[in-house]
Amino acid sequence: MPTPTGSVKQNSKTAPSSTKNSKSKPSGTKQSERNRPLVQQQKIITVANGKGGVAKTTTSINLCAALAAQNHRVMLLDADPQASASWWAKRNEGGLGFDVASVEDPLQLDRVPQIGDYGVVVVDTPPALASNALAAAIAIADYLVLPTPPAPLDLAALIETVRTVVKPANVSYRVLLTRVDPRSLRETMEAQNTLLDLGIPAFHAFVRAYKAHERAALEGMSILQWKGKQAREAQADYRRVAEELQRDWRD
Ligand SMILES: Nc1ncnc2c1ncn2[C@@H]1O[C@H](COP(=O)(O)OP(=O)(O)O)[C@@H](O)[C@H]1O
Ligand SMILES: [Mg+2]
Repeated sequence: MPTPTGSVKQNSKTAPSSTKNSKSKPSGTKQSERNRPLVQQQKIITVANGKGGVAKTTTSINLCAALAAQNHRVMLLDADPQASASWWAKRNEGGLGFDVASVEDPLQLDRVPQIGDYGVVVVDTPPALASNALAAAIAIADYLVLPTPPAPLDLAALIETVRTVVKPANVSYRVLLTRVDPRSLRETMEAQNTLLDLGIPAFHAFVRAYKAHERAALEGMSILQWKGKQAREAQADYRRVAEELQRDWRD
């Protein structure tokens, strides 16, 4: 059976549902003009889902890595008291290619002193729907990325999160299907169709489940730094997500 690539086609009904203005800080003033990416305004992206184990931290780390590889100046703000992203970063002596800062008081998220120095800030959040940290991370966001596995129970919980937390916040967002079984796309297609029917925007790209993600995390590497088996496929998935995100910013 051919290995599916990490994306499916959808129609234009999936454009982000809201157009809250982005922050107006200039991005990356230390970057050379030659390498400056098209996106000029600072973007704050919050990665959220009320559930744990749905790849929020994996997505935060690898989205940061993919955006940094495209010459964005990137910071990951770890707003999860469990501090998985900070733990991941601490084990990488050579650095991940972007900066990671943990935020002890989530209500201070937008007052992190260095925040203005970055073109892109990605906020990783705890798996608690009613938490102050999640509310604060959504409040400062220009864009939400909502990772979820495509399994029906996970998807149902995510749809409820969109209804109760995301839509009222009036921020642009997309659902990202993660931990997708690369040998069977049926569930993924069904999940994409369910979201489409509900008018919930989803990335066309999705992230397939590969051991490479677990191994890279254990070594404190982003998937872009990982050299093992199926690294290429796993890298391609997060690169596609980063590209799609940047297309949304340009439109
Ligand atoms: N695409 C993937 N393929 C395989 N394993 C994954 C993938 N994404 C995440 N994982 C694994 O799933 C577990 C939960 O991921 P994590 O990012 O910590 O979720 P969360 O932050 O939502 O709790 C981790 O063991 C992680 O390595
Ligand atoms: Mg996490």
